[in-house]
Amino acid sequence: MVRLEPMTEEEFRSALERAVPRNAERRVRRGEWDPSEAIAASRRDFTQLLPQGRATPGFHFCFIVDEADGRRVGETWYQLDRKVGKWFAWIDWIWIEPEHRRRGFARAAFDRIEADARRAGADRIGLFVHADNPGARALYERLGYAPSAFRMEKPLSPD
Ligand SMILES: CC(C)(COP(=O)(O)OP(=O)(O)OC[C@H]1O[C@@H](n2cnc3c(N)ncnc32)[C@H](O)[C@@H]1OP(=O)(O)O)[C@@H](O)C(=O)NCCC(=O)NCCS
Repeated sequence: MVRLEPMTEEEFRSALERAVPRNAERRVRRGEWDPSEAIAASRRDFTQLLPQGRATPGFHFCFIVDEADGRRVGETWYQLDRKVGKWFAWIDWIWIEPEHRRRGFARAAFDRIEADARRAGADRIGLFVHADNPGARALYERLGYAPSAFRMEKPLSPD
């Protein structure tokens, strides 16, 4: 139903430019960052995650393409790498364009990524999701993902 089409260098750079404000907006909305510094902080996040940009070892940057008509319906970034003698599989990002949501594209993209990970020799695959993203959580739970760690927070009111 979908194929994963690797991004060129130029496409990766545009994807990064889309990701910077999306990440910043989410962190501001969650109250983690001040809007005045959010874009710069978001750029720093990605520089840390991807020190060699598209060539950062283990990373794959792909468009999700509807095989029926060749349209790009979304994008995904994921990692397949050997770490400490084991294959590490991790999905960093998935985005389906709003007009293509709830048509099974994310699920189909996961099928592809998981097949790649299995072929490489990984025995598990992970991802991170914010608790306040119910759509993504519902998708992951439906696909068989379960929590393996909890990050806990408590709001602090002024004295
Ligand atoms: C989350 C996201 C990737 C889902 O993509 P999608 O292509 O719409 O998902 P699918 O159509 O493959 O959904 C498969 C199943 O997941 C669940 N699901 C997906 N989105 C859901 C939503 N918004 N609310 C509730 N359940 C949802 C449903 O069980 C769905 O099956 P159904 O449509 O038969 O009920 C998409 O909404 C998105 O791009 N969101 C913005 C970016 C984002 O939050 N990414 C995740 C960051 S961690």
